[in-house]
Amino acid sequence: MSIERLDLQDWQLNAAPDPAWQAALEDGAVLYCPNLCFALSSSEQHYLDPSLTNQKRKSIYIRGDSATLYGTDASANDQEGLLAMLTRYRSASMHLLTQMFPGYGPAMRPAGTSFRPRPTGTGEAALSWRKDDTRLHVDAFPSNPTRGLRILRVFSNVGTSARVWRVGESFEDMARRFVPNISAPLPGFAALIHSLGITKRKRSAYDHYMLHLHDRAKADLGYQRDCAQQRIEFAPASSWICFSDQVMHAAESGQYMIEQTIHLPRAALAYPEHSPLRILERMAGRELLPAAET
Ligand SMILES: [Fe+2]
Repeated sequence: MSIERLDLQDWQLNAAPDPAWQAALEDGAVLYCPNLCFALSSSEQHYLDPSLTNQKRKSIYIRGDSATLYGTDASANDQEGLLAMLTRYRSASMHLLTQMFPGYGPAMRPAGTSFRPRPTGTGEAALSWRKDDTRLHVDAFPSNPTRGLRILRVFSNVGTSARVWRVGESFEDMARRFVPNISAPLPGFAALIHSLGITKRKRSAYDHYMLHLHDRAKADLGYQRDCAQQRIEFAPASSWICFSDQVMHAAESGQYMIEQTIHLPRAALAYPEHSPLRILERMAGRELLPAAET
């Protein structure tokens, strides 16, 4: 586990990027920028209100590069303001990453931008251990297989209290613990659940292992308690960046965060041997994606 502190103060870099940032990021570090603030305007401060979300949603969000807002029944006026805030965050975070990691540049695909006005651990998370992100996990989603696209995320704390994470052991150490007990995918199962509309695309063997790692770690309370981990407080007005499909993370407490998710093709990685796909393939002794996609 590693937390690297970066002294960035602006979403526009004023110097050349440090190549060590990319090496650390791809090695599974969280890049913490304590002085990188996503400032809300005085009218946006009004959105620091958990009642703006729909009852069942934990976030208000836009998808991809679209301009349709989901997750709120706010007034038309407020929806317009929320959409503008999320769109501005998407632009700022994509611009920052393009400067920090020039090799990712045009390969980056915005996957979603969300505003989370509720305290962590409430809503859906309180009902299901699988959705409980206060437990250490790597990101993997049952209905949305990535087929090897990396999940890169930028987070900003826009509230007035710290957002507290626990960050766990390395991906490889975690995988070594759980993979031996995960059965291989059942032949035909991925095609079946895709044909039934349960998954948005066909789940690859890689997605199968990632999903089981997410579930096994969350289900194992002894592991949650005893594994190597450190606690980190992301201060108000700070930001941080990580590959959330690689960093074991748990959102222990906090409220009011904005987050950008980016899907990154593996071809853009400088150190693909450090990626979850390659680590799992080395452990499995075989390829986990069809050859055409590797
Ligand atoms: Fe997560």
